[in-house]
Amino acid sequence: MKFFVDTAEIADIKELADTGLLDGVTTNPSLIAKSGRDFMEVTREICGIVDGPVSAEVVALDHAGMMREAEILRKIADNVCIKVPLTIDGLKTCKALTGEGTMVNVTLCFSANQALLAAKAGATFISPFVGRHDDNGFDGLDLIRDIRLIYDNYAYETQILAASIRHGVHVLECARIGADVMTAPPAVIKGLFKHVLTDKGIEGFMADWAKTGQTI
Ligand code: G3P
Repeated sequence: MKFFVDTAEIADIKELADTGLLDGVTTNPSLIAKSGRDFMEVTREICGIVDGPVSAEVVALDHAGMMREAEILRKIADNVCIKVPLTIDGLKTCKALTGEGTMVNVTLCFSANQALLAAKAGATFISPFVGRHDDNGFDGLDLIRDIRLIYDNYAYETQILAASIRHGVHVLECARIGADVMTAPPAVIKGLFKHVLTDKGIEGFMADWAKTGQTI
């Protein structure tokens, strides 16, 4: 499963990119606002740090406006992936952009039928929001399961990008189900490295090593 980080914070992206385990980045208008940075400038900077896809979201709601914005955004770098909302205009834009060879991430997916439409529109990625689905009394992981089943039934190449990932259990279950990608905030990804028994084990080994008086 590919790991994308869901943030526009450069320091966090650099830290995770340095591990060699980061496959891409997702941003959205809320994350750009939170960063306090200029959208174009910060997107360019992120594209220079990570080789993989960097999702940059259009804010126009109509097809012509989305195409106009996508034209500007895709010039930033070759690894820009245009993010569009799951609406009729968004999917029209998706179809047009992927037809021209531009990567597209269709976002704000909350049903398997929406994901089916995105695949038919040739989306590179579909972003079902697991955590927000849970927040609203649905099972976000069931949504990932349904999309996996449908995409496999028809051998759609659209990659399932599990988004709105809130904790390690979401990550584990997405991997079990077979999501192609998951995107999570930096803290959730960093949390995956941690285990209390790993820390305890290191502590014990260090204490015993010190007793040997040796160095390597
Ligand atoms: O990038 C979209 C998604 O990951 C947002 O997550 O936690 O705000 O629902 P969240």
